[in-house]
Amino acid sequence: MNTLPDTKAPHESDEDHLHFFADYEPPTDDFMADTLTGLSRNQKSLSPKYFYDQKGSALFDEICRAPEYYVTRTELALLDQILPEVAELTGPEAIVIEWGSGSSWKIRKLLDGLDNPAEYIAIDISRDHLKAAAAEIGRQYPDVKVGAICADFLAPIALPPEAIVSEGRRLGFLPGSTIGNFDPHVAAEILRKAAALLGAGGAMLIGVDLEKDEDTLLAAYDDAGGITASFNLNLLARMKDELGAQVDVDAFEHEAIYNREFHRVEMHLKAKVATGISIAGQEFIMAPGETIHTENSHKFTLAGFQEIAKTAGFEPEAVWRDPDGLFSLHYLTLP
Ligand code: TRP
Repeated sequence: MNTLPDTKAPHESDEDHLHFFADYEPPTDDFMADTLTGLSRNQKSLSPKYFYDQKGSALFDEICRAPEYYVTRTELALLDQILPEVAELTGPEAIVIEWGSGSSWKIRKLLDGLDNPAEYIAIDISRDHLKAAAAEIGRQYPDVKVGAICADFLAPIALPPEAIVSEGRRLGFLPGSTIGNFDPHVAAEILRKAAALLGAGGAMLIGVDLEKDEDTLLAAYDDAGGITASFNLNLLARMKDELGAQVDVDAFEHEAIYNREFHRVEMHLKAKVATGISIAGQEFIMAPGETIHTENSHKFTLAGFQEIAKTAGFEPEAVWRDPDGLFSLHYLTLP
């Protein structure tokens, strides 16, 4: 049995490892209100932000390892392959800013591959997760200053003066095709906010999933092992546990469909039989086959994504694809 002591001194807190922490105090989630609003819609919906409780986050990590889910492994392999070029384009002593703080393996690869990065800043809405994840990077990279900003991706964010620790390039990082989980006009708005934060001369490395045959897409979002199904159905379990909802989870099944018109995989919770959900005295009736829409994952062509990036003021500087053409990484710059 491994009995190595915890190397973290007892008095040491996460904040000791942060060069700065900026809190934009994003509004706290209201699971109850959001659920009642979503279930009242014509097309019932639930916000994907509620996927990520402890169980959901663990299931998501499992999805990333599922054989059908090509996204994570393809992006990691591609990142490995292009790192020397990314380092060359970026130059020394970069200030690396990551939107989201969940992609720990990817950011480590990037920091390892860059030329002497000066600083890493994570932006995330989940305060506790953000502090813990950023502090962990701080422990592992003593030569990199580490900062954290608690904010919504759409918030207008400015870097605090202490964050400007180098003359190096500001490099934004948004992996995992997270940008594809937003409607295109919201994605463009996020990129505009990113451009404002990065400033002239800044750059962005962004992972974007590509259009492909429907079978491959649907398998990725409905794996044979049922992990994605459990991930989706976990929303109903949360409604029961946290909102006291009366819902027959067994009356629902996970459904992934490809919406051709909107170029996106949609995830739904589909009623197999006539059923109902009652929450806080409100009753939502569901006909057999009726669905609750829970997530979108947009798929792009290289040129299509570049067009969106241009509307946000970026210039496409380089783009790479894996040999099978499944996934892309874009290096965008700001003049
Ligand atoms: N951004 C990734 C994607 O769209 C990850 C993701 C978000 C995801 N929500 C998901 C993957 C739900 C599977 C199921 O692929």
